Amino acid sequence: MDCKNSSNNNADITEDMIFSCFAAAQKLQDTRTSAESFLDVEEYENRVMYPEFARWARKAGYPHLSNLFLKVAGEEKEHAVWLRKLYSEIGIPQANADVVRAKEALAEIKANCDRLIALNPDGVVENALRVAIRVEQREHLEIYPRLRDQALQEGLADAAEIYQKVIDSESVHAQLFQEALNEFISLKQKAQEAVVQG
Ligand SMILES: [Fe+2]
Ligand SMILES: [Fe+2]
Repeated sequence: MDCKNSSNNNADITEDMIFSCFAAAQKLQDTRTSAESFLDVEEYENRVMYPEFARWARKAGYPHLSNLFLKVAGEEKEHAVWLRKLYSEIGIPQANADVVRAKEALAEIKANCDRLIALNPDGVVENALRVAIRVEQREHLEIYPRLRDQALQEGLADAAEIYQKVIDSESVHAQLFQEALNEFISLKQKAQEAVVQG
């Protein structure tokens, strides 16, 4: 694969840019509002974020990473189903404003990413993996444990159990993406060493 370094390119899309676009979840205070917000986030990851990362990986020539993003996208849908069931008595929540903003920002990232993938396919895929790890770690280490503990404090044992199920799943996602990134980096290093020794 033709992999050119785009570090001189002003339009470089950084990990932080992708992260702020996709990590749209808001930290809200009470259990009910937070859960509504995170139902949106789960759906956003299922419908927008991971399908987009899958598209980038496929375009960059990494079908196995594309499949990994799609597999996780499918599991995010399950999280949305669990949370919706949990909150079924309060109806289908409105889209969170941050999620709406992130969807708009996505259009710009998308347009620039297509160009950047042509210049630096590996860089885009590596950034997508790093962002996926940050998103999943934040969810299983901070966001859902907070919701679980809040639910426990409020005596909502069933709710706490569902949050724990989400925590366990997000933790697996973080691990899968970390392993994929490690493998991606080590393959790149081996390829570079082969060129040097060549
Ligand atoms: Fe999730
Ligand atoms: Fe996840």
